[in-house]
Amino acid sequence: MKFLSIVSALLASAVAVSAAPVEHPARDVWTPKILYPRAGTVWYSGQRHNVTWDLSTKPAQITNNDGAFILLRSGEIETPVVVGHGFKLTDGRVEVTVPDVMTRDDFSLVLFGDSGNWGDQFTIKGVIDL
Ligand SMILES: *[C@@H]1O[C@H](CO)[C@@H](O)[C@H](O)[C@H]1NC(C)=O
Repeated sequence: MKFLSIVSALLASAVAVSAAPVEHPARDVWTPKILYPRAGTVWYSGQRHNVTWDLSTKPAQITNNDGAFILLRSGEIETPVVVGHGFKLTDGRVEVTVPDVMTRDDFSLVLFGDSGNWGDQFTIKGVIDL
């Protein structure tokens, strides 16, 4: 019984987590689409790359423009790894260094400005390959 309630609690939180991305942002919240890296991209740890995002949907007024940053996501998990920071959301790109990771093909980047917004999954050939 105890096991079952733990399982159902886990399921409930999994549902809550997977439900989060579908919630519709308020109208003044801008979540620009990440254009690169895209599906099929392969990066190597230590390389420099430009992450780019779509500025065509940019609203006139943007809150938190200067506080933009990018986190690494692995599968459904948002990691605390900061891939880029100290740029403006209106820049449309930021040059980053690919972090040291274990090789995986389910990485994605989360671009934060007004709210978090993640791009396609891609591969990083990391420093550890199991
Ligand atoms: C990133 O883009 C800038 C501007 O186009 C360019 O000067 C720079 O060389 C690019 N960096 C990389 C790693 O491609």
